[in-house]
Amino acid sequence: MLFDVEKIRSEFPLLRGNAKLVYLDSAATAQKPQCVIDAVSEFYARDNANIHRGLYRLSQTATTAFERARERVAKFLNARESRECVFTRGATEAINLVAASWGGANLREGDEILLTEMEHHANIVPWQAIAERTGAKIVVAPIFDDGSLDVPAMKNLISEKTKIVGITQTSNALGTVNPVAEICAAAHTAGALVLVDAAQSAAHFAVDVQAIGCDFLVFSGHKICGPTGIGVLYARAEILEKMPPYQFGGDMIDVVDFAGTTFRGIPGRFEAGTPNIAGAVGLGAALDYVSALRPHAQAHESALLSYATEKLCTELPEIRIFGTAKEKASVISFHLGDIHPSDVGMLLDTFGVAVRVGHHCAMPLMKRLGITGTVRASFAFYNTFEEADRFVAALKKVRGMF
Ligand code: ALA
Repeated sequence: MLFDVEKIRSEFPLLRGNAKLVYLDSAATAQKPQCVIDAVSEFYARDNANIHRGLYRLSQTATTAFERARERVAKFLNARESRECVFTRGATEAINLVAASWGGANLREGDEILLTEMEHHANIVPWQAIAERTGAKIVVAPIFDDGSLDVPAMKNLISEKTKIVGITQTSNALGTVNPVAEICAAAHTAGALVLVDAAQSAAHFAVDVQAIGCDFLVFSGHKICGPTGIGVLYARAEILEKMPPYQFGGDMIDVVDFAGTTFRGIPGRFEAGTPNIAGAVGLGAALDYVSALRPHAQAHESALLSYATEKLCTELPEIRIFGTAKEKASVISFHLGDIHPSDVGMLLDTFGVAVRVGHHCAMPLMKRLGITGTVRASFAFYNTFEEADRFVAALKKVRGMF
């Protein structure tokens, strides 16, 4: 068997010990395999010390583990060098870092920041904050009704005023996969940089920063089976080297004197204070785990998405799916007739089905679609066809209650 989903599920303690649970909220956070849990606990049990500070062997072991995790991230993203990978708390902090540091140093009145209508709040609000500080303006590229990006319209909005483009590779609320390489090429022609939000894509398909041609890319560890509180900012070295520090404190300095301070090179300059060392180690283990399952995991997820979508549409004709773009990752966002999404979510929970409801941190997208929220079922490689059946059966029971 190319992809033995039952064997994979047995490697996840939470899934293994919870036969009644149908976990369809992996876009919010993915479950963790034993190897990731072990990597974190073994680090604390065996290797724990602060990094970059101690001359003793234990500290050097911890430093090596942390820096190996960075190398692992660089390989995962196909970055040219590991110093292009900065550890952050997550994708949100990584975008805040770029907006505050690069944006603060480079944006001026009249400059434009180009975003899309389908961005997560994390790729909107940090840009609004820096736009207010600098006088730059936010410009928004539209989407079509099916949730796909209006690529020609977005390209038309790119001009010499555009300084940075922020675009999600995969919409968390709809699943739409965007042609980010094409947008990067168009932006670069006009001299603009591009930040790709890969928070929802890294878990589903290979993310290659050189093939995409992006200047910045961010993702979170916890959505790719890693620990919470750890994420990555990738940035091209020549850009990162010119960016001022984002936070200040220990470990990011070269020499401190009351007369003035100099800073470390990259990436350490952007990692003030003691980082999430165990989180980085756990993320390294998660990337190894997920990479080893590809490409079969991706094929399984696609088959699951098609199966669940078709079954929903056949067995529940009143379902309205938001996000039907051709290129789509394993998210189904929907309304069940006129039943409020919160009611659907709460009732599904009574049948053991965990989904997210609401605006999915994408209020401008909801506004564009003329709704306030949806029910969102998001699938991962550890979900089964039988779970998709249980999800549809539970929805039918919910419908029967109204
Ligand atoms: N951004 C995460 C989601 O889409 C939390 O659920």
